[in-house]
Amino acid sequence: MSTPAPARWRVAPGGTVAGTFTVPGDKSISHRALMLGAIAHGETRIRGFLDGEDCLATARALAALGVRIERPAPTEVHVHGAGAAALRAATGALDMGNAGTAMRLMMGLLAPQTFDATLIGDESLMRRPMERVAQPLRAMGARVDTHEGRPPVVIHGTPRLRGIEYTLPVASAQVKSALLLAGLAAGGRTVLKEPAPSRDHTERMLRAFGVLLEQRDGVIALEGGQSLRATALEVPADFSSAAFFLVAGALAAEQPLRLTNIGVNPTRTGLLELLRLMGADIRVLPHAGTSGHNVEPVADIEVRAGALQGVTVPENLVALAIDELPVFFIAAACASGETLVRGAGELRVKESDRLAAIAAGLAALGVEHRLLPDGLWIRGAPSLAGGSVDSRGDHRIAMAFAVAALRARAPIEIADVINVATSFPGFEDCARKAGLGLARL
Ligand code: S3P
Repeated sequence: MSTPAPARWRVAPGGTVAGTFTVPGDKSISHRALMLGAIAHGETRIRGFLDGEDCLATARALAALGVRIERPAPTEVHVHGAGAAALRAATGALDMGNAGTAMRLMMGLLAPQTFDATLIGDESLMRRPMERVAQPLRAMGARVDTHEGRPPVVIHGTPRLRGIEYTLPVASAQVKSALLLAGLAAGGRTVLKEPAPSRDHTERMLRAFGVLLEQRDGVIALEGGQSLRATALEVPADFSSAAFFLVAGALAAEQPLRLTNIGVNPTRTGLLELLRLMGADIRVLPHAGTSGHNVEPVADIEVRAGALQGVTVPENLVALAIDELPVFFIAAACASGETLVRGAGELRVKESDRLAAIAAGLAALGVEHRLLPDGLWIRGAPSLAGGSVDSRGDHRIAMAFAVAALRARAPIEIADVINVATSFPGFEDCARKAGLGLARL
């Protein structure tokens, strides 16, 4: 029997975008809400949850560890936590699908348990580096095996971990969060130093669960042995999903395009600064305070098309725009002049080698560029050729090239788009609603 070819898109060239809409809930925050809810005491109620494959993998893994999880609606989740000690060994390996965040954070959650666990994932996740979490966990006394640095990850539960002082070699919220989760269960103090700020959703959410945590000048510290109190959480719409429409709007919104209820945590919004540096017309309209149970700042964002100029990206913005760089490169390809991004070697170890995937796509669309070990140089052009692009099974590469069609002279076909459902279920409808001529083949 032959397996069906993975879904493809054909996106019509040109056109404009407009309208007011929102995007699904934040992926990073949804993962964390499930995990912290699972080790808290009581019922954590989550609204605005991302009903996407990555977060569902986390939910399934926690259920396999004995956590009762109810979903009264696709975007509403109730997690019945009974403390970390209530987790139980799963009967088989925990399959984290495409989700790097899920696997790395689960390593921190599982390292201090009384039982063993094995973490696996899809083809992409099985290629991704896991020693960046395993090594510092070992320094805390954990026993963790990887296969030549990659999954499967086997965790031999070790309940008596020790807090450590650790300087992260790369700015990584996943590593930081895994160590904070392990630190919660460890004896003594865990002190983490970040080389540059990375997203701080874990720190904010831990506080909402009643954990005492210090955060100053790039140092985060907590005492082990603290327990979490269940809470109510509202997940804002994902800035990383909104990013595709921010760039689409900057390229082709003759009338304003407005995105509502978007999470604008400053550790995530580097793309706004980059687009402004390029000359984009963007207005951020913050919602009052951090409303209700929300511990994250939220805003509506309005964007209109304007002439974009290439830029040299300040390296301090790279970590703050890391997941948005694929679609930023599309903006650069459509800008006048040259754009240079360095210090973005982390892009090579995401769901795909995103630098190589973008470079190959730009080549297919006739855009002059140079692939660098840690970045890309691009000379923008007034319009792009059409052509066929391989997303390499990477959701953000697929969506970025769909946006590129707005400036193409012929259709762009994008192969292997099935994983868009990991982060942005409903992207196709949203894109059509905004004005993109996207068809599934
Ligand atoms: C994430 C952190 C980032 C990001 C990923 C989600 C998180 O990865 O690229 O999509 O939720 O903590 P790194 O921590 O590896 O930089």
